[in-house]
Amino acid sequence: MTESANHSIQTVGVMGAGTMGHGIAQILIRSGYTVFLHDLSQQFLDAGAARITKGLKRDVEKGRLTAEECEKALSRLKTTTRVADLGGADFIVEAVTENLEVKAGAFRAIEPHCGPGVIFASNTSSISITRLAATTQRPERFVGLHFFNPVPVMKLVEVVPGLATSPETVEAAERLAASAGKTPVRVNDSPGFVANRLLIPMINEAVYCLMESVAEAKGIDEVMKLGMNHPMGPLELADLIGLDVCLDIMKVLYDSFRDSKYRPCPLLEKMVSAGRLGRKTGRGFYEYPQGKA
Ligand code: 3HC
Repeated sequence: MTESANHSIQTVGVMGAGTMGHGIAQILIRSGYTVFLHDLSQQFLDAGAARITKGLKRDVEKGRLTAEECEKALSRLKTTTRVADLGGADFIVEAVTENLEVKAGAFRAIEPHCGPGVIFASNTSSISITRLAATTQRPERFVGLHFFNPVPVMKLVEVVPGLATSPETVEAAERLAASAGKTPVRVNDSPGFVANRLLIPMINEAVYCLMESVAEAKGIDEVMKLGMNHPMGPLELADLIGLDVCLDIMKVLYDSFRDSKYRPCPLLEKMVSAGRLGRKTGRGFYEYPQGKA
């Protein structure tokens, strides 16, 4: 594809080149968008760009993309450490650290460079869209766009309107997600939205099972894979998501609903305190001898 399928949006700015940001940039350049990928250091950008190149080359090997399409897609990726370079984008997707202050700071940094019609989207997994939108000058053009890891593989995007989000903004976000090959599902702005409200308490309960010696980690995962046809067991999946991310989401659910059923498992808290965060640190419920993934 040489031209984006969403004609009013041609250029997208993606803030954050980490696990989610690089995946979002990858699917967008593959779908014809020009992407300005921003991060704070060239090192983060180089790592993100290398993962994107690897992902698209994999598509070529598998016959899902021609070598020429791959080269064209890669030529649409521009990396930058200067936030002003995202000023020409028609749509901004923020995928920085999951922290209200950090995310609000990213939007504060970009907003003076963007025209009033530019839509801001956040890939937050648990922060209120209404609250984030209120930190900007454009709450009506602010929307949640929650992607799933690994982004190139997972089909879902939760599209989350905040209290002030206009219907046009929601529709534009849905069109963007669909044109990048995803299935958008509209979900209201409620703690954890739908996906993480269901998924993360299940993972938390699996950690309780481990802590209470109901079964070993491998046994717990086998039960869910073989008995429920889940592609990964909950503990393997926690290692993929990051135990710190799982814990943060449990805390948001617990603090928001004030219901003891969302109490984070003490073993999950202990693992995070020990720095055993999963694949990204080489150790979580399992060990990853190849190092960080
Ligand atoms: N990045 C890109 N592509 C990846 C990948 C990654 N990290 N991991 C696997 N893939 C691709 C592989 O390249 C392969 O594609 P190909 O062979 O056609 O090129 C395909 O996915 C299947 O991979 P594998 O054969 O190696 O392994 P599996 O069949 O076991 O699939 C999986 C791996 C797709 C990760 C699968 O186990 C799965 O779907 N797991 C569940 C993932 C999940 O639930 N994600 C949601 C997490 S929650 C979230 O993100 C929300 C947040 O807010 C917390």
